[in-house]
Amino acid sequence: MTATLPDLDQELAIDAATADALFFEARTANTFSDEPVSEETARAIYELAKMGPTMMNNQPMRVTWVRSAAAREQLAHRMAEGNRAKTLAAPLVAVLSFDADWHEQFPVFLPHAAERQEMFDGEEKAGMRESVGKDNAHLQAGYFIMAVRAVGLHAGPMGGFDAAGVDEDFHAGTSRKAFMVVNIGKPGENPWYPRLPRLDYATATTTL
Ligand SMILES: Cc1cc2nc3c(=O)[nH]c(=O)nc-3n(C[C@H](O)[C@H](O)[C@H](O)COP(=O)(O)O)c2cc1C
Repeated sequence: MTATLPDLDQELAIDAATADALFFEARTANTFSDEPVSEETARAIYELAKMGPTMMNNQPMRVTWVRSAAAREQLAHRMAEGNRAKTLAAPLVAVLSFDADWHEQFPVFLPHAAERQEMFDGEEKAGMRESVGKDNAHLQAGYFIMAVRAVGLHAGPMGGFDAAGVDEDFHAGTSRKAFMVVNIGKPGENPWYPRLPRLDYATATTTL
């Protein structure tokens, strides 16, 4: 346990080993071993991530699993140079996108009030729809990273890539808009950058 608050473990409702695996010892991996990540594990990651809360339960995040060597090679061409090697090395890569037409799923995610879809219908609502979709998909991306940790793997989230190019290659003819790429797997050689400082409680919080 590497938390700076003494006696933090007294506040936890989960055991210290679980808190370490999800938070304190969990790191962003920058290299990966070639140990495969199974389809069952990918499903488990989604099953966990989908349970996190979103506005009206709207769940706008979509996942494009990039698994084959050919698809990872294609994706690497759209990554910033410093992100290419790790994307090629990771056994599984998730392109996270938001569905710009997420409101079409109202009957699924809000069946008792599906008529609320009308609030988001039409071209004139596209901007509002996009901002609600993007915000909530980013929330879900946080749950997704924690889900990767919960199945005992490491995530390497990246924003450094050509999103329009990724959409052209992987999302043509759909309303998915890529916003994050996440490498997934077991860490390889020298996987960590130095741990960077976190803001303390007094800086980041206010009590009224
Ligand atoms: C939204 C997002 C975008 C990121 N983009 C990149 C990136 O393009 N390249 C990279 O090497 N790391 C990227 N990172 C990794 C962060 O720098 C890293 O998660 C952070 O410094 C914490 O590292 P730690 O988990 O090892 O403490 C990104 C992380 C997030 C959450």
